[in-house]
Amino acid sequence: MSVIETHQLRKDYGRVQALKGVSIRVDKGEIFGLLGQNGAGKTTLIKILLGIVHKTDGDADLLGRPAGTVGVRQKVGYLPEDHRFPEYHTGASLMNFYGQLYGLPRDERRRKIPEMLEVVGIKSRMDYRIRTYSKGMKQRLGIAQAMFHDPAVIFMDEPTDGVDPVGRREIRDLMQRLKDRGKTIFLNSHLLGEVEQVCDRVAILQQGDLARQGTVAELTRQAGRFVIGLAPGQEFPAAEVARLGYAVEPAGPLVEVVLPDGQGIDPVLGVLHARGLNLRHLVEKKQSLEDVFVAMVDSADPGTDRRPGRRPREVGAPAAPRRR
Ligand SMILES: Nc1ncnc2c1ncn2[C@@H]1O[C@H](COP(=O)(O)OP(=O)(O)OP(=O)(O)O)[C@@H](O)[C@H]1O
Ligand SMILES: [Mg+2]
Repeated sequence: MSVIETHQLRKDYGRVQALKGVSIRVDKGEIFGLLGQNGAGKTTLIKILLGIVHKTDGDADLLGRPAGTVGVRQKVGYLPEDHRFPEYHTGASLMNFYGQLYGLPRDERRRKIPEMLEVVGIKSRMDYRIRTYSKGMKQRLGIAQAMFHDPAVIFMDEPTDGVDPVGRREIRDLMQRLKDRGKTIFLNSHLLGEVEQVCDRVAILQQGDLARQGTVAELTRQAGRFVIGLAPGQEFPAAEVARLGYAVEPAGPLVEVVLPDGQGIDPVLGVLHARGLNLRHLVEKKQSLEDVFVAMVDSADPGTDRRPGRRPREVGAPAAPRRR
């Protein structure tokens, strides 16, 4: 069952086209990551789904209802980007305030507040004013607030922003536990290593367009590439391996072998073995999500201004001389 679905979703802010027709789908129980450079449209998409911002065109559904439907909001938690809670509140009194907004009965609030703050690791400071909290403590409080009413879907805009490494891991574990309980999590993050670890599926936005969508494995798969090295002085039998249908590319002292569709690396190893060659290095090449992301956005304009020194060579300008 899809929990979030958008179809050709568009949003214009005056002349700025923040979303240019984005179609995504998030299923129940998924941790979904939305990636993109600054200004790509991530926060705009979340805000439309939550009914905070109105779409210009297209469709956006949340829990089977059009985004912004009032009854649906009860089932949704939201950790905004750069939230600022009133600093005169203590952690506990802020949670109490949100609990009232969510319509939780008094007894339940009293019982659940320390429980939730314990989960995010700030229970011992719950009676201190937010003014005295560190950045990461405020962020943890924000997460507790977002899941206080046991929502079915939780939107988190940069949840680990300002959180220390141990805390980040705790937050990742927490997301995993929420997922195990059937919750759906929609995550915006710039921390691709983290996204790679925690997300089931991701979408990459580029200047308001959907550039890619798929599982992390689908996006990082590099159609079977192996790096092979032989013992010193031995020559790789490139011609013979190429005759089997493999592409062979030199890579310094090593070679890269690209598998044809559906083929494994074993026939290549068979050739090496038959020739009495000694394998010293064999590694399957895999891209990180960051490799994929950087390669993708490098070839396109970011939403922000171009960085100097990255200007493409002018047409007609001489190329650097090549040494023979
Ligand atoms: N209220 C607004 N009025 C005008 N333009 C806006 C408004 N909100 C966002 N935009 C523009 O819409 C585009 C998308 O912004 P958005 O905040 O969705 O990006 P983002 O992907 O969340 O970026 P970041 O990674 O920096 O948080 C940007 O060009 C931004 O300047
Ligand atoms: Mg944003």
